[in-house]
Amino acid sequence: MIIAVDGPAAAGKGTIARALARHFGLHFLDTGSLYRMVGLAVLRAGGDPHDSAAAISAARGLRPDSFHDAELRSEAVGAAASIVAVIPEVRAALLDFQRQFAQKPPGAVLDGRDIGTVVCPAADVKLFITASAEVRALRRQKELGASDFKTVLAEIKARDLRDSQRATAPLVAAEDAVVIDTSDMEVGAAVAEAIRIADGG
Ligand code: CDP
Repeated sequence: MIIAVDGPAAAGKGTIARALARHFGLHFLDTGSLYRMVGLAVLRAGGDPHDSAAAISAARGLRPDSFHDAELRSEAVGAAASIVAVIPEVRAALLDFQRQFAQKPPGAVLDGRDIGTVVCPAADVKLFITASAEVRALRRQKELGASDFKTVLAEIKARDLRDSQRATAPLVAAEDAVVIDTSDMEVGAAVAEAIRIADGG
C-alpha cells in the first residue's frame, strides 16, 4: 500500500502522514527533508543554492544518515530547499531513492509536493493537504518559535509561489487526489479524516 500526501508548506502534511503510517503499519518518508539536506549541504559549503552545479553535486552525494540534523527545519534551509528543488537534475538525483523507499514491504506513506503526480503516480491513496496561508504561517511561527508573523507569512508565500510555478514537478494536486483543507480543523480531526479516506470510507 502506498499513500501519497502532498501540499504546501506547513499545511499539516507531516503530522497526517506520520499518523497514517502509524495507523496502517507502513514506512514513512518525509521527502522534503531530502531537498532540505541538499539545501543545507550547499549552504554549509558556503555555496549559493541558485548555483546549479553545486546543488546537483550535493544531491548526487547525499547520504541519508544526515536526515536528523537539527538545522534542517529552519526556514533558511526551507527556502534553500525550494531553490534547489527547481533544478531538474536535483529532482532526478533524488527520485530513485524515493521510489525504492515506496516499494519497501508492506508499503509506505510519503509526504512532499510531487508524490501523487511524479514519484508515485500509481499510489493507492492520494491526499492533498492544504490550509490558508495565514493559518499555515501561524502554525509555522509556533513550530519555529519565530517572533514576527509578517516575516513568516511572507516566507511561506514566497515558497508557495516558487514551488507552484517551477516547470518540473510543480506543487499541484493530482487529478485523483482527495483535498483536505485543514484551515478550520484540529489536528485530531484532520488525521481522522485522512484515515477515513485512506480506508476507503
Ligand atoms: O515542511 P514544509 O512543508 O515547510 O517543507 P518541506 O516539505 O520540508 O519541503 C521543503 C521544500 O522542498 C519545499 O518548499 C519544496 O520546494 C521542496 N520539495 C519538493 O520540491 N518536492 C518534494 N517532494 C518535497 C519537498
